[in-house]
Amino acid sequence: MGDPRELTSGGTAPHRPRYTRPAGDPFAHRHLLGIEGLHPFEIEFLLDEAERFVRCRRAPAASRREGLTQINLFFEASTRTLMSFEIAGKRLGMDTVSFAVAASSIKKGETLLDTAQTLNAMRPDVLVVRHGSSGAALLLARKVNCAVINAGDGRHEHPTQALLDALTIRRRKGRIEGLEIAICGDILHSRVARSNIHLLTTMGARVRLVAPPTLLPNDAQDIFGTPVFTRMEEGIEGADVVMMLRLQKERMAGAYLPSEKEFFHFYGLTAEKLALAADDVLVMHPGPMNRGVEIATAVADDLSHSAIEEQVEMGVAVRMACLSVLTRHLVEPADENADECSRGRE
Ligand code: NCD
Repeated sequence: MGDPRELTSGGTAPHRPRYTRPAGDPFAHRHLLGIEGLHPFEIEFLLDEAERFVRCRRAPAASRREGLTQINLFFEASTRTLMSFEIAGKRLGMDTVSFAVAASSIKKGETLLDTAQTLNAMRPDVLVVRHGSSGAALLLARKVNCAVINAGDGRHEHPTQALLDALTIRRRKGRIEGLEIAICGDILHSRVARSNIHLLTTMGARVRLVAPPTLLPNDAQDIFGTPVFTRMEEGIEGADVVMMLRLQKERMAGAYLPSEKEFFHFYGLTAEKLALAADDVLVMHPGPMNRGVEIATAVADDLSHSAIEEQVEMGVAVRMACLSVLTRHLVEPADENADECSRGRE
């Protein structure tokens, strides 16, 4: 009997592997810095690993990572991503430490690289980093000895968000390939959009971008190879998934929009606009939502279409998968004579 409080409503169609994995290591990367460049079989592998952790409050023995240290280094505000990484690490048995940037020496002028060096000296096993500058995660990865997971770097990438979105879609729709997916709103400033465009097109979905011209990168169509719509009604017509983005006001230096009211009028997801999408359309939003700006409350809360809460739930499973995959070489078969303190170090 399932627990009636369980959130998970997806999983209607079981997933069967679509991509052949080469022999050997299915994910031969030290870090997870972005989705761009990953092979479909690597993405599928991470999603399959995550699937094992859905509803898992305590990881099974083979995936446990007791004694490993995970540092969450967040230079930007975050609620769900930080909590989700912390919970994921704890469910794997890791010792998780979250770094409060506001109270740290960074405010006293320490640079990102000084911070990296200081943290590296404490010998963490995984560093999860969020930073306002694109490329910050890569910079850190070059300076530290442990695995780095990018939890969002500026406008660049947010790979675990795209993975959790993909897991949610796959569980609800049974596939990603061939789906019509509209990504709508502030594409220009969104790392969520960028990671999702890479992931969804790599996995064979047909992605369309929907945004006002001021919130689209120049030549978006050429850069991403996806159709671009500036009229939302056209962009979401017949879509299987409508993925809304938050207006990233903190990244806007200038006037990109006449007003939020006008943005909602033309680009806000309302029940009327949603009626143009497929009958069984899935509505998604990475959060935090600006209700009445990019999405109407009635649409966000309509559980017959909205997967927003499920996205949060999948976030923990995806992060457990990423953490366990990137640290799997640090777990050695039990050895009575092993020196506990020399574990997995170079
Ligand atoms: C996103 C982020 O921070 O990039 N949120 C998240 O990770 N849950 C999207 C956003 O802030 O709009």
